[in-house]
Amino acid sequence: MSQRIPIIVANWKMNKLQSDLSIFVGPFSAAIQPLLAKHKCQVGLAPTALHLSQVVQLLKGTGILPVGQNSGVAASGAFTGEVSPTQLKDIGCSLVILGHSERRHIYLEDDELILKRLKAALKEGLSVIVCVGETLEERKSGNTFKTISRQLGILKEISKADFQRTVIAYEPVWAIGTGENATPDQAEEVHFQIRNWISKEIGVDVADAIRIQYGGSVKAENAKEIMSKPNVDGLLVGGASLDPVSFSKVIEQGINLS
Ligand code: PGA
Repeated sequence: MSQRIPIIVANWKMNKLQSDLSIFVGPFSAAIQPLLAKHKCQVGLAPTALHLSQVVQLLKGTGILPVGQNSGVAASGAFTGEVSPTQLKDIGCSLVILGHSERRHIYLEDDELILKRLKAALKEGLSVIVCVGETLEERKSGNTFKTISRQLGILKEISKADFQRTVIAYEPVWAIGTGENATPDQAEEVHFQIRNWISKEIGVDVADAIRIQYGGSVKAENAKEIMSKPNVDGLLVGGASLDPVSFSKVIEQGINLS
């Protein structure tokens, strides 16, 4: 089995003001440098598009990645309110989250639109985190994997080489921001199914190498147990990533598995 480098990303959503950015980055970076020196791990921060440029500057030399929360369907053009993948790259951001549950459910982004965003981001050379996840209703009616395999379907439209720049985030909708995380076993079950789907539909080598993050009410108290599962390769963290101490604890617990 290939050694998959863990990837832990803070999703700040529509939070923080400009003055909060340096207050976060300084102490956070200092807290995790010793961890990053000891353990191979990628860590990223996804502020709003408005703050991304400033975060790129603050993160210079820290090894921490600036991450976009979404990106547009083209390099430029008449798309009011959107930020293009070219613009992300231009300011020094090379990783973007796509298809987040809040984009799907609040802004009604469907698979077709997310595929357009995905293709545009990959074409620009960005790396992507593609989010999937079922609602509570879908889980209760036994349709968890039906939903997830439909959402994964867009991955059939990208090239095999593009998978080297693709991460998947499994985020059950019912676990996001609710305080109720999937149990480590529930997460592992779905992560295993996702890897299995990729193995069948894309290829065994891709399935072996691709990293699958878990997201949904991750905190320091559950990060270790979730990350100890064989098919969980990282975390996408909302609420617990807003404070530098709590996010560094998540990372410490998540990667310090020995
Ligand atoms: P949460 O959010 O950690 O606050 O549940 C996770 C996410 O939406 O990525």
